[in-house]
Amino acid sequence: MRVTITSNVHEMSVQAAQMVRDEVRRKPNATLLLPTGGTPLGMYRELTRMHSQEGLTFAEVTTFNLDEYVGLPPGHPGSYRRYMEENFFRHIDIDPANTHVLDGTGSNLEKACLDYEQRIREAGGIDLAVLGIGHNGHVAFVEPPAAVRAWTHVAALARSTREANARFFHSLADVPRAALTVGLGTILGCRRVLLLASGIEKADAVTRAIEGPVHAMCPGSALQLHPDVTVIMDQAAASRLQLREH
Ligand code: GLP
Repeated sequence: MRVTITSNVHEMSVQAAQMVRDEVRRKPNATLLLPTGGTPLGMYRELTRMHSQEGLTFAEVTTFNLDEYVGLPPGHPGSYRRYMEENFFRHIDIDPANTHVLDGTGSNLEKACLDYEQRIREAGGIDLAVLGIGHNGHVAFVEPPAAVRAWTHVAALARSTREANARFFHSLADVPRAALTVGLGTILGCRRVLLLASGIEKADAVTRAIEGPVHAMCPGSALQLHPDVTVIMDQAAASRLQLREH
């Protein structure tokens, strides 16, 4: 693992965007696996700036998203499809047909999960996955206890996860209780992984993920099994690391 500690969250976002930019420049038809949440917002803003001011093009890029709530139609303000459109896709030159977000409204969710894995395979696999981390150590919506070999699946959300995401909804009661999410197997199958964390409230989770034992109760710790992981976090998130060799 390569661990970079930045002086603030803005610097984390800029460095994350630079890593995505470098991947897209190296391979213009790269396939990305992308996160939602508060953590990557600055990265999307910086990538948007690189597109408008530096000519970074996403015309040949394909994206998949990590997860989506069950029961929210794509236009719902809390849906991750809507988040991606508003915070990233509508500001860049990506072909909408090349953007993939799981659909949590279908009648056969298990099939939707299998189809998603199939589409990732058909796209040639993921070149770069970008992840945030939840308070309980979840990545995507892979909740503890997590099976390392799981692929895309339907997940029941932990109460702490619903509480943390309630800020994107009117109330806790409005946060769906289930989601579709890629699995740890999907993530470990990506060629490169970038994990982002910012703020003191992520310090415990990210410390357990990168310095703790690989454990089902901290899904993010599975990243220690991946050969090419970069972690970029701000000083607050890094404040509980022991800074062993990674
Ligand atoms: C949600 C998402 C995760 C994200 C996590 C942390 O649970 N499904 O992909 O990493 O929240 O979100 P935030 O960055 O808002 O703290």
